Amino acid sequence: MLVSAKDMLVKAKAGKYAVGQFNINNLEWTKAALLTAQECNSPIILGVSEGAGKYMTGYKTVSAMVKAMIEELKITVPVALHLDHGSYEGCYKCIEAGFSSIMFDGSHYPIAENVEKTKELVRVCGEKGISLEAEVGSIGGEEDGVIGRGECADPQECKQIADLGVTMLAAGIGNIHGKYPENWEGLSFETLDAIQKLTGEMPLVLHGGTGIPEDMIKKAISLGVAKINVNTECQLSFAAATRKYVEEGKDLTGKGFDPRKLLAPGFEAIKATIKEKMELFGSIGKA
Ligand code: 13P
Repeated sequence: MLVSAKDMLVKAKAGKYAVGQFNINNLEWTKAALLTAQECNSPIILGVSEGAGKYMTGYKTVSAMVKAMIEELKITVPVALHLDHGSYEGCYKCIEAGFSSIMFDGSHYPIAENVEKTKELVRVCGEKGISLEAEVGSIGGEEDGVIGRGECADPQECKQIADLGVTMLAAGIGNIHGKYPENWEGLSFETLDAIQKLTGEMPLVLHGGTGIPEDMIKKAISLGVAKINVNTECQLSFAAATRKYVEEGKDLTGKGFDPRKLLAPGFEAIKATIKEKMELFGSIGKA
């Protein structure tokens, strides 16, 4: 059964650890994430970008696949199925498809419009027991073809959105999606501290979890971050393991590559990456 991300994040914030959001792209990714969470006795959030949802033929397919996998793999740790960087329309589609958590990324709207739309989603999600993530201050890098700059959010605007009753808040603190450039200035802990002071108990979300140095991750958790998103690092480990397998020509049986064997090393690589992150975030044993 899927659960809202609310309880797991409230516990994480109080216990000073973070729950990982790992993005899924296909069956192997999903299976790797669920099995690792179970093996680590850790709560987990499965993130689905709009692009990944489309790739997997639509949100209904994703929702049905995840629910069936939880049942057939006998997963008992808390699992939230979460729309990542959703558009306003995408949020409604995922609510209808049975997701247990959504992110409305209204960061590109003027703040008044972000507030209006978030307010409406707070109402709808509240009625259905779905957790809702809002975003203030765009997070840089490229995701699904959208390039943002990595701004620092205005703490007052964060308070304004948090006060609407969202479950969790993603605030830009200089973080970006994908690899960090050589000249990256690091996370702005000054901004994070100011946001945390104004938003109190609100679990804060750190996007762009790939490539942030460990000490910065730990400091961010100590300043109220309770959810950390990781995508690129799983993609890189999957790609490296698959490439190595192909280059070694291990599957050249004369019949071509067996797809299950071809994807097996990448599957193991994703599992290892997720486990490493769960250790760093402190969520192991917290289910
Ligand atoms: P990375 O791809 O940098 O790990 O970021 C993932 C993310 O924030 C998804 O929303």
